[in-house]
Amino acid sequence: MEQNIVIKFVLFTFIMVLTCCSAANIFCVFPTASYSHQQPMLALSHALAAKGHNLTVITANPNKVPMKNHREIDMNFLYRLFQEDIEKVEKETGFTSQKRQGLFNLIKSGPAVSEYIAYHIFNSLQIQNLIREVNGTNYDLMIVEPFIISSLLGFSDMIGNPPIVGISTILSMSAIDIEYGNPVIPSYIAETFGFYSDHMSLWERFINLWIVLYQNLYITNMYMRPSQEKIMRQYFGNVNRNLWDLESNKSLLIVSGDLSTSYPKPLQPNTVYVGPMHIKTPPPSLPKDLQELMDSAEDGIIYFSLGSNMKGKSVPEEKREAFLKAFKQFPKTTVLWKWEANTDLPGRPDNVVTRKWLPQQSILAHPKTKVFISQVGLQSFQEAVYYGVPILGIPMFGDQDFNAKTLSNAGAGLKVEFQDINYDKVYENLKQLLTNTSYKKSMMRLSSITKDKPMSAVDTAVWWVEYVLRHKGAPHLKPAALDLTWYQYYMVDIFVILMFVILMTLLTIYFIAIIVIRKLFSTKINSKKIKRN
Ligand SMILES: *[C@@H]1O[C@H](CO)[C@@H](O)[C@H](O)[C@H]1NC(C)=O
Ligand SMILES: *[C@@H]1O[C@H](CO)[C@@H](O)[C@H](O)[C@H]1NC(C)=O
Ligand SMILES: *[C@@H]1O[C@H](CO)[C@@H](O)[C@H](O)[C@H]1NC(C)=O
Ligand SMILES: *[C@@H]1O[C@H](CO)[C@@H](O)[C@H](O)[C@H]1NC(C)=O
Repeated sequence: MEQNIVIKFVLFTFIMVLTCCSAANIFCVFPTASYSHQQPMLALSHALAAKGHNLTVITANPNKVPMKNHREIDMNFLYRLFQEDIEKVEKETGFTSQKRQGLFNLIKSGPAVSEYIAYHIFNSLQIQNLIREVNGTNYDLMIVEPFIISSLLGFSDMIGNPPIVGISTILSMSAIDIEYGNPVIPSYIAETFGFYSDHMSLWERFINLWIVLYQNLYITNMYMRPSQEKIMRQYFGNVNRNLWDLESNKSLLIVSGDLSTSYPKPLQPNTVYVGPMHIKTPPPSLPKDLQELMDSAEDGIIYFSLGSNMKGKSVPEEKREAFLKAFKQFPKTTVLWKWEANTDLPGRPDNVVTRKWLPQQSILAHPKTKVFISQVGLQSFQEAVYYGVPILGIPMFGDQDFNAKTLSNAGAGLKVEFQDINYDKVYENLKQLLTNTSYKKSMMRLSSITKDKPMSAVDTAVWWVEYVLRHKGAPHLKPAALDLTWYQYYMVDIFVILMFVILMTLLTIYFIAIIVIRKLFSTKINSKKIKRN
């Protein structure tokens, strides 16, 4: 009897292993040349490869050593566009990652930047060969970054139109939410590229609405999508469906974030906030010299890095001097500064240590790290939250203003405007962050929120990807909102009919009334006339 149960159990396990985890061929498109945005996406593709799936990954950050089940199409050359050719890119597209950027300028430069990058991607030998190679094959799933280069969705036509999963490394913005049928409600859902929180004044709500309309109705509809559609058809030939159909027929959106760095909002079942996928637990151990340096820091560590896009050396001289002068006032605190130039930092005080590259997560995880001076890109913000390190935020572009606002609202850090940076500002803010314990407390509160999950972020994302595979694209997740036109969705058609009916009723009443009044009037006049006669 007992033996029977054991045999049954073994058989059951065997069948489960066979059926639930059959390896899938997965095609990933992660072209954005940004180290921080690559990390969450690669965390997912690596995890899928480790589970035995067969991945083909277009990535700007290929692994140094080849990985099993993880074939990479190397797009690393794209970094050159934004690092060596910064001036050229700025001249051609109006976009730069090295200066403070206005919001509308950023949105406006979107189509030109996307076009510029798309042409460089499609004209590369790697992608030309890949198109030829995969044309006519059948993949089980495609995973894409739902960001700027949407023409790459044309790959789905080459690989048998498999279900598509989007993976977002910024908190969902209206342009992405629209593709999944998520409600866009500008009265309390602040645009990720804006500067507001979930509580907005009348004027802020007005601007927030304006951002949503400008981004979606004007820039995306009139410039971005048509230009990407043209590029898609140029390189993939006669793709069966138009770009909007491809964009709005994705099975799932995985967002690499959670409520520790965002606000509650309504989401369709096809959208999951899994948490920051790039957090490594435990973090890789520090190199020996850094470990010793950090352990021996008398009054803790200030970690200074403006992220992977902005270079420390792009900080103008007078602002650099303001930082150095402020750092000098905390001689017992060691400052770790990510400084990429080959020359030493001019006027560097003794307590400032520079390195070309620093292992950010391991530094933030070190108990001596007291303050993180950051641009507040989402991935850096999430790491600081996870390890509970207060931030001095200096937002520059993209979603950084939004993140800095979330940060200061939560009381987990302070924000300085880049153009306002001077010695007094830096000194006062650092002093607050180093001496006032309320910032650390707030960060620890956010930290406990982000850590409180039934499964790790990557495991959750893997589960959802396999869910989509198991259910053949999981069409039951797709809300009918996506099958409606905008006037059906906003019930404009119903209101128009209703207005028409009301108008007709009112008109009918009006004319009947006139006829009746006329009748009454004319009988009165007639009767008067009769009397006079
Ligand atoms: C894995 O994908 C590659 C293409 O990148 C393909 O050549 C190979 O046949 C696939 N392996 C399996 C087991 O499907
Ligand atoms: C939408 O995607 C599914 C795969 O998930 C596919 O079967 C279907 O044909 C697509 N529909 C359209 C209209 O493209
Ligand atoms: C894909 O293959 C088909 C059939 O061989 C061919 O007609 C088409 O031009 C190819 N598409 C591209 C983009 O190379
Ligand atoms: C510490 O910071 C909090 C939040 O900004 C503030 O309310 C409080 O007054 C500060 N305490 C001191 C001693 O500065």
